[in-house]
Amino acid sequence: MRIDIISAVPESMISFLESSILANAQNKKIVEIFLHNLHDYADDKFKHIDDYPYGGGSGMLIKCKPVFDCIEFLLKERKYNEIIFMTPDAPILTQDTSKELALLENIIIIAGHYKGIDQRIRDVYITKEISIGDYVLSGGELPALVLIDSIVRLLPGVLNNSESALSDSLMDGFLESPQYTRPAKFRDLEVPSILLSGDHKKIEKYRIEESIRLTKEKRPDLLEK
Ligand code: ADE
Repeated sequence: MRIDIISAVPESMISFLESSILANAQNKKIVEIFLHNLHDYADDKFKHIDDYPYGGGSGMLIKCKPVFDCIEFLLKERKYNEIIFMTPDAPILTQDTSKELALLENIIIIAGHYKGIDQRIRDVYITKEISIGDYVLSGGELPALVLIDSIVRLLPGVLNNSESALSDSLMDGFLESPQYTRPAKFRDLEVPSILLSGDHKKIEKYRIEESIRLTKEKRPDLLEK
């Protein structure tokens, strides 16, 4: 899979992209991730990529020209399955969306900044808009990283068996049952004895019951789905 990220501050994303599972996935050539700086596509000598909104209003908007030019540069090289814009005024990211995107070959993700982007960019090039939640961040970089992480961990070969994404909370629509590791007793806190029993059938039953109990308690909306 290839992911191209377009941002006004791509350098802010580097350390995350170069750490942990995302770094491994890139080293193993399972995913290629490229950063593109909007300032490289600015059309004036001051490298302005934003301007005041027509009709007044607060804040600055990202202009058409640098985004159109960057997208067109990429489209000349290859076809993209989706051109995604991270924005709070969009449907909220779910595990199902990440699963669908993990099947694609090439995607572009645009991380907005300032107050938003010129609507014409959305009208002409954006094929999918995604929010990571009902709150507003200063830019789309963190949302883009959230999206990328949730996609890349689903790509075959990225996680080993013990980390398998199949056992992720939410993967089957339920929250995961509580997890414990050694020691069995820490201070006066004990691991539920059933997990130490070695009886795999009982453990499986316990995990399913706990998973249902926690989902009812914390995320009843998931059960309605
Ligand atoms: N940009 C700013 N806030 C955002 C959010 N909640 N989701 C996606 N992109 C955003």
